[in-house]
Amino acid sequence: MTNHSGTATGSDNMRNRICFGDNLPILQGMPTSSVDLVYIDPPFNTGRRQGRTQIETIASHDGDRTGFQGRRYDTVKLGHKSFDDQFDDFLAFLEPRLREAHRVLAPHGSLYFHIDYREVHYCKILLDRIFGRDCFLNEIIWAYDYGARTKKKWPTKHDNILLYVKNPNDYIFNAEEIERIPYMAPGLVGPEKAARGKLPTDTWWHTIVPTNGKEKTGYPTQKPVGVLTRIIQASSSRDNLVLDFFAGSGTVGEVCLELDRNFILIDNNPQALEVMARRFGGKQEIEWIGFDPIPHQTAHLQQVLF
Ligand SMILES: C[S@@+](CC[C@H](N)C(=O)[O-])C[C@H]1O[C@@H](n2cnc3c(N)ncnc32)[C@H](O)[C@@H]1O
Repeated sequence: MTNHSGTATGSDNMRNRICFGDNLPILQGMPTSSVDLVYIDPPFNTGRRQGRTQIETIASHDGDRTGFQGRRYDTVKLGHKSFDDQFDDFLAFLEPRLREAHRVLAPHGSLYFHIDYREVHYCKILLDRIFGRDCFLNEIIWAYDYGARTKKKWPTKHDNILLYVKNPNDYIFNAEEIERIPYMAPGLVGPEKAARGKLPTDTWWHTIVPTNGKEKTGYPTQKPVGVLTRIIQASSSRDNLVLDFFAGSGTVGEVCLELDRNFILIDNNPQALEVMARRFGGKQEIEWIGFDPIPHQTAHLQQVLF
């Protein structure tokens, strides 16, 4: 497929931006055909508030937790982050935002829409109406294996990511740049092929963000860098502009910095902006709109240093 390098707007002084606010008016103020790739991971309409409590464990004789080899630990609550995930009319909330996403996409642009089994079918119909059925390329199943398994039905352990392009005859898909994965039976394909690995299909096995790993920000529903890396590598080129208008902890921004793409991130939750302020602390090449990251970056630095 075509390799569209340079940004959709062609501007040389494109900067990375993080905006605080409701995404609809911000999208309405963006120029038409100005973005190469949109990835969005809206609230899934689970009908509850999404929340995570961050804790730290400190060794203590009479602590409330038991760890490895019976050692005891005290649990210290560090904070709680959350956002609302219930809508009276989810599709009515999404529709004007998806129409704007379609408008701001460049003619060769792509949209990845991340959702789960509860809403994916309704969203597919809505997206077909906005993009056209012939512009639907894939439903990616991201399968993971974490958490309790219900015995009342098949445990649901996957998310759905719908891929649409603006023009099915001209879009970016960098098959050669996608990180290849090992063959399941390498003995059947010969040593050269086995060493090269194979292209992933539309079913991706990838762990969730490890609960105690370096990647974890503490923001509820944070998506893994590995999943976003695959998307951004495949469907954008160096110096392209990537937009995430349900940005949360800013995973898209982190991957864009790594892969030399520009980004615009939008979120209306001050806690998301605080997490991004810490995540991108020290990165000069970001313009913050409607939010001052400095107090959060300074407080974080003090915590790390002292
Ligand atoms: C599922 S989370 C995104 C998580 C993100 N992909 C990550 O890796 O951290 C959805 C985000 O959408 C934000 N959001 C919901 N409604 C919004 C709106 N109208 N405008 C901007 N952001 C919104 C929420 O605050 C939340 O951070």
